[in-house]
Amino acid sequence: MAAYKLLLLPGDGIGPEIMAEAEKLVAFLSAAGVAAFETEKGLVGGAAYDAHGVAISEGDMALAQSADAVLLAAVGGPKWDGVPYDVRPEAGLLRLRKDLGLFANLRPAICYPALVDASSLKPDLVDGLDIMIVRELTGGVYFGEPKEITDLGNGQKRGVDTQVYETYEIERIARVAFELARKRSNRVTSSEKSNVMKSGLLWREVVTALHARDYSDVKLDHMLADSLGMQLVRRPKQFDVIVTDNLFGDLLSDVASMLTGSLGMLPSASLGGEDAATGKRKALYEPVHGSAPDIAGKGLANPIAMIGSVVMALRYSFGLTAVADAVDKAIADVLAAGLRTADIAAGGATVSTSEMGDAILAELKKTF
Ligand code: NAI
Ligand code: MG
Repeated sequence: MAAYKLLLLPGDGIGPEIMAEAEKLVAFLSAAGVAAFETEKGLVGGAAYDAHGVAISEGDMALAQSADAVLLAAVGGPKWDGVPYDVRPEAGLLRLRKDLGLFANLRPAICYPALVDASSLKPDLVDGLDIMIVRELTGGVYFGEPKEITDLGNGQKRGVDTQVYETYEIERIARVAFELARKRSNRVTSSEKSNVMKSGLLWREVVTALHARDYSDVKLDHMLADSLGMQLVRRPKQFDVIVTDNLFGDLLSDVASMLTGSLGMLPSASLGGEDAATGKRKALYEPVHGSAPDIAGKGLANPIAMIGSVVMALRYSFGLTAVADAVDKAIADVLAAGLRTADIAAGGATVSTSEMGDAILAELKKTF
């Protein structure tokens, strides 16, 4: 079988430690003949700045462009607080998103049965929780023009950000949500503020029309974003797939993440458009959390968000659903057996980053 090309970008802080566990998984899947992967490694963030004076080199950008998927761990840390704005660690991540055209950010919020007590909500509200938030990532108020601070000359200033969405941007993100829903519980909740925003009104119009045209088999609801925020903490299990804009998606996905307990558990995917000729999408997979400088180099980091990001790559870039399901099950089984890294231990016994990674592999070896 043709090998899938993976670019690994460990980055900074705990990045290299958790990436090592992802590498073990990828190497195992290749060795077991489950899927063939070819990996290359690059530098991003502070690591790239220290080596090349930029947040990601042109060479590594070229590797990202030609890879079937990019796995990134995390960037940043106090060491690089003083570096110039355009080469700061986060600039590497932004460059990847922009140049690869990664407009669809998928953030699952899954509550593992073994961890229901870690949630900020009552166990029965989150037991079995499995939401997918689909956030538009390259448009909206973070990018719209004008975007400026002007001096009004009378001792006052004016700060302006502009929310702009065009039909094609709304259609392509909604399409991602509908396609995902068909593989899940077939329900999409689209969210905006069409009561007070023109761009929100267009959002609702476009999603409604696309639904009628191509996805009438999927159940579609619309919910105003403020109301959705309230419902997320009131009765989160009512949702399956949520699709929303860049700003609301940023807020709502952070709220949803806390329903599940720990930052160390949450993966994400950022997907680009389908290539017309090959049908392939550019894609980057990374944990939701940052570089955790406070615990870096100590073997304390939870590798599950990183391993879960590999699982998302198996699912969304390679269509290896059965393999992805098997890794997910291995994670759930290891948690059910009581293994805990410090962030999810609630004062009980703990295992190290590599012990958690090894335990998940050992569990997986029962299947492959
Ligand atoms: P953070 O997510 O790195 O850490 C927040 C808290 O969660 C810390 O106490 C940390 O120890 C803990 N934590 C995070 N991941 C963990 C894991 N896998 N296992 C166990 N505990 C974990 O966020 P923070 O502290 O605000 O930012 C630290 C650095 O990371 C900053 O430089 C920030 O800019 C950067 N950052 C990078 C992101 C990325 O690469 N996508 C995203 C968020 C922040
Ligand atoms: Mg955020």
